[in-house]
Amino acid sequence: MEDRIITAHLMMEDQAAEYSLRPRYLAEYIGQRQVKENLKIYIEAAKMRREPLDHVLLYGPPGLGKTTLAHIIANELGVHIRATSGPAIERAGDLAAILTNLQENDVLFIDEIHRLHRTVEEVLYPAMEDFVLDFVIGKGPGARSVRLDLPRFTLIGATTRAGLLSAPLRDRFGVVCRLDYYGEEDLTHIVTRSADILGVAVVGEAAREIARRSRGTPRVANRLLRRVRDVVQVRGDGVITPEAAREALDRIQVDSLGLDSVDHKLLRAMITHYRGGPVGLDTIAASIGEESQTVEDVYEPYLLQIGFIQRTPRGRVVTEAAYRHLNLPLPGETDKQGGDEA
Ligand SMILES: Nc1ncnc2c1ncn2[C@@H]1O[C@H](COP(=O)(O)OP(=O)(O)OP(=O)(O)O)[C@@H](O)[C@H]1O
Ligand SMILES: [Mg+2]
Repeated sequence: MEDRIITAHLMMEDQAAEYSLRPRYLAEYIGQRQVKENLKIYIEAAKMRREPLDHVLLYGPPGLGKTTLAHIIANELGVHIRATSGPAIERAGDLAAILTNLQENDVLFIDEIHRLHRTVEEVLYPAMEDFVLDFVIGKGPGARSVRLDLPRFTLIGATTRAGLLSAPLRDRFGVVCRLDYYGEEDLTHIVTRSADILGVAVVGEAAREIARRSRGTPRVANRLLRRVRDVVQVRGDGVITPEAAREALDRIQVDSLGLDSVDHKLLRAMITHYRGGPVGLDTIAASIGEESQTVEDVYEPYLLQIGFIQRTPRGRVVTEAAYRHLNLPLPGETDKQGGDEA
């Protein structure tokens, strides 16, 4: 997929590390206070009643901790978790097999739940609502429908695209949690915690320096930390100082706000060719040689999030903050300054 160092999507190099860095219990899960507090109460209550937790929907951008949270919920409940994903369940029968193999109160985690096949989704409705499986035996006039009781379970669904979920599915979740980008403070904690686990010394403001460039995303924070660690191990004494962090991150072209060369290219293209906009998505995409869909799904979200781009009815506009960050004169200023100097 993408190979940008700051991508929020899981990269090959992340896989082993993420496993060891993943918090196992709510107390280790940093940030997302509201979500944590709510879940804590629901989990306690379910345990007291010896009942399964209500079905939980976790949604939000990639790399913010949905999968992590699903495993934490199962750990806190003290039950097994069976993990799968929407596209992996090809037929209704596959889901039926998974459901009948669960134990009482277990968690079934379905990642990318917005990508469930329609026919599979229909099996899920009665399973979620009444813990039953309805199926038809035989064909034609002799066919009859059979109902099978299932163990009572908790479904945890995760998605980056809650908008794509069908209404009947969405409505069957009793607990809906939206994860949001992390602030600098929380990310600094996450970097510090991860450094501890990785056994690397991060001194002074170095953790904050890494946090600031992590685009609000723990997955990115952990990846940048590992890159910086590699640099200090090869070139220095293995200690991450603020200077070492800055130098390493500058070298891999992740700037002080976490923008990389693609972000710079996109913003500069909008500024130099279209005076900062408004300019249409397709035009932006063409000017940097990308697909519109990629620009919209991958490149644009963080720039919108930090207010460097705005969406208007007439197209995208580069904001003043972006000009300042790139050290470029605003359109009005160009003329004045140019005139003075000429
Ligand atoms: N609140 C947190 N505290 C500490 N570390 C976290 C937290 N949230 C996420 N992480 C770290 O970030 C990594 C990525 O999180 P996770 O895989 O749960 O994201 P995700 O939301 O499931 O992403 P995707 O949408 O790509 O599936 C985890 O391995 C973990 O190390
Ligand atoms: Mg995940």
